[in-house]
This record gives sequence, structure tokens and C-alpha cells, in this order.
Amino acid sequence: MTNKFPENFLWGGAISGSQADGGWNEGGKGLNTQDLRYFDADWNRAQRDENRNINMTTELFNKALTDTDLEHYPFRWGNDFYHTYKEDLRLLSEMGLKVFRTSITWSRIFPKGDETEPNAEGLAYYKSMFEEAKRLGMKVFVTILHYDTPVHLITEYGGWKNRQMIDFYVTYAKALYENLGDLVDFWLPFNEINASKFNPYNGASIIKDQEENYEQAIFQATHHQFLANALAIKAGKEILPDAIFGGMIARFESYPATSHPDDVMQSILDENYTNYFYIDVMARGKYPSYTKRMFDSKGISIVIEDGDLEILKANTIDFISYSYYMSMVSTTSKEHEKTSGNLVSGNKNPYLESSEWGWQIDPVGLRISLNQMYDRYQLPIIIAENGIGARDVVEDGKVHDDYRISYLNSHFEQMAEAIADGVEVLAYTMWGIIDIVSCGTIEMSKRYGVIYVDRDERGHGSNERIPKDSYYWYQKVIETNGEDLSY
Ligand code: BG6
Repeated sequence: MTNKFPENFLWGGAISGSQADGGWNEGGKGLNTQDLRYFDADWNRAQRDENRNINMTTELFNKALTDTDLEHYPFRWGNDFYHTYKEDLRLLSEMGLKVFRTSITWSRIFPKGDETEPNAEGLAYYKSMFEEAKRLGMKVFVTILHYDTPVHLITEYGGWKNRQMIDFYVTYAKALYENLGDLVDFWLPFNEINASKFNPYNGASIIKDQEENYEQAIFQATHHQFLANALAIKAGKEILPDAIFGGMIARFESYPATSHPDDVMQSILDENYTNYFYIDVMARGKYPSYTKRMFDSKGISIVIEDGDLEILKANTIDFISYSYYMSMVSTTSKEHEKTSGNLVSGNKNPYLESSEWGWQIDPVGLRISLNQMYDRYQLPIIIAENGIGARDVVEDGKVHDDYRISYLNSHFEQMAEAIADGVEVLAYTMWGIIDIVSCGTIEMSKRYGVIYVDRDERGHGSNERIPKDSYYWYQKVIETNGEDLSY
């Protein structure tokens, strides 16, 4: 079939502040949780993967608070976007990008997180960035919190399990609406609000060894984030009546491993607990009935105060958003072969190829998930992240990343199929459009971009930007509004 994308379809690209910006101690910025994540370029594959899974310990956290050895903290230097954003946005606009997604770093606006007056220098940085994007003809899609919570909110308040976080967050969101509101087209209060379940440090700033009841803390923190999300939408609509708000998850498509009814049931449970629960609350405005059994079985009893459920009910999202990288399978069998994936490891699907990091490549899964999500919520969808992390090589000043083009090609074909199925897809923001530090394993060598950044895992390099073959391919895709996906 010919690929048909709606007129004005928003072809985009995405990054996050902590993975791209650098400038970790500039512009009045305070330390945040991502600045403290340690990495060693001499680690082997297993150690790198283990580092992703152990999250954070009190010992590592405390050491990082005063550690000034930059080499081991890649989030402190990223790809230097803090200094190169004008040039990077120019390259993106020359490719034809229609929408640019990034996140605001809370600790640039409120360095400690509990102040009442925002840091003017931090606001000026984003104002300049967004004005530049607009000047170049791109829409701006902002994530208000993408994992980088100010550290003072952890040392002083214990992070998201503390209800006071809601007020601090809403104060922060209001400062953004008041100062940057006219430059932003789409708002996403939280990146992947289901991340707390899989990576509680990133998602909810929870340090495991400090919790007596880890799961309880995670779901209490999630409740606070649901409320913060709802109250941020409420404040946003009061200050900016036309503002559009989305709710985002990391989408873990999970097929039954076999047609055995137990596997089918397991797949329903996995879908409910890892995916739907979070969007159900944000889109339908209430805790779904299956959460009671989930909480009871884990002995979790979260505190829901009077009025909380009304807040959730009254302030729901306008669009659905999710990251989609891979799929898994669900089974009750303990013997099933395992593989890695975004945020989680899971069961291997014998029909799929995997990336070098073990993430199973499943373009049809994108079409399936789009159908499922649209059918369930009947709200427009933005694919906020999708792409492939790979080890790119520069040869004679060029990067021949045919594997990335092939990945994008097959996912775009399936997105077009989903649109033909009747799914309303507003935009697609390809992940890591310029090479950035990987979030899970903190490796600069796991690259997603269509623009190469000359920086190694120790932060050394010329920092030069080199458009890859995929840059020119994506340029053609955008120019033809997806009709020409050939390569
Ligand atoms: C998403 C995150 O879950 O996955 C991004 O929102 C992250 O921040 C992306 O970069 C890809 O994961 P990774 O670990 O390969 O960087």
C-alpha cells in the first residue's frame, strides 16, 4: 500500500534535558537525580547492564553529592546541547523537523526544588531555545519532568513518596506556564509515569535501601504523581486555556507466549499492571477496578486523602503518549528464555530479531499498540519516543546507519497501517534525534540519533555534529510526508 499520513502530520524528534544538556553547574542550576548516576567506561557489558538494574544506593548517592570527577557522571556533560542548541536546532530544521520534544530540567528553574521564586537564568535558557525552535518553524513539545528531580527534594523530603512534592511540582509547572506558555504547543507533565514500577530511582527518586516497604513507597509515589499530573493540568488550563496536555507511559506490548489460556490471562495481567493502569487513571480519571486485587496481593495500602479521587476525575489528559521500542511475551512458565528491553528484562519472542542491547525489534507491535490504545481511550496519540540504540561508526566523515533506516522504515510503514486502520496519530517524535547519553546504561556509545555527536564515553571528543545517512533519509520522508520511505 502507499503510506498515507494525514496532512500536517508532525514528524519530530525528541531528547531529554538530562541526557543532552550538560552545563550541569551553569546558569544557576542545582544538582538533580540524574547528575548523581555513576558510570565507568571500563565496565564490561554485564557490569553496564547491572548498573541499569541496581538503580541507586545510599552509598553511591552520597558519594556522588560531592564527587567532582566528571568522567564518571555522563549526565553532567550530555552532548553539550546547553551550549549548542542553536546550531542543533538549525540542523534539525534543515532536515524539515516539524516538532521538537525536550524536557525542562526542574533544577534549572528551581535549583533546590522548594523555592517560591524561579531562577531567571534557567527560564531565559528555555525561552531562547523555544523561540529559536519557533523561529525555525518547529512546534515545541515539552516534558515537564523527565526523571531529573532536584536532589534537595530527596535529601530533605524523601522524594515522590512525600505528598509535599505535589505542591513543589505544581509551583514549578506554573512558573513554566507563566513564563514559557506562549511558546509551547504540547505539554507532557511526566515522562513515562509507569517508570517508577521498573526503575524507582529514575521514576520516583526512591532509593531502595532506604525503604522498609519498597513497593508501598513506589505506589504511594505514583499516587502523588497522578495528583501532580492532574493538578498541573488544572493549573495549566487556568493559566493557558488552549494548552494541550498528554499522559505518557513506556509501552510494554506483551503477547501471550502460547495459546494456552494461562499465558493469555498472564498477558492481560501484564498489560493491565504495566501499561493500562497508568493511562486508565490519567485518561479515565479513576483507579481501575483491577488495582484493588493488585494492591491486595502485594500487601500495598496507599494513602488516598479526601478529595484526591475528585481531583483525578476532574483533570484528565487530552492525548495519549507513549514510548515504543520493543515488545515482550507473557507466560506463566518459569523456563522461558529471557531477553533485555527498555527499563525491564522479559521473555523472548522467537519470531523477532533483537538490537545489540537485546531489545526485540517489532514494528508490527507498534501498529498493534496503536490500535489497542486508540480503541481503549479514543484519544489522539503522539508516539513520543521510538528508535534504535546502536554503535555507529564514522567512516571518512560519514555514518552509514542502514540498520537505523531499516528500523525506522519498518516502524513508519506500520504507523501508516495503523492510521489506515483509523487510529488518530498526531505526531511522532523519534527518540534521541541527536546522539545523547543513554538513559538506562549511561553509555554515550549507545546512539539513537540521525545526527552523530563526536563524544566518547569519557566525554572526550571534538563535539562535532555529523548528519548520518538516516538524517538524509528522514529528510526525504518528511518532505514527502511519509509517502517515500524507500532506501
Ligand atoms: C525511555 C526514556 O524509556 O527510553 C529515555 O524515556 C531513554 O530517556 C529511552 O533514553 C531509551 O533508553 P536507553 O536506555 O537506551 O537510553
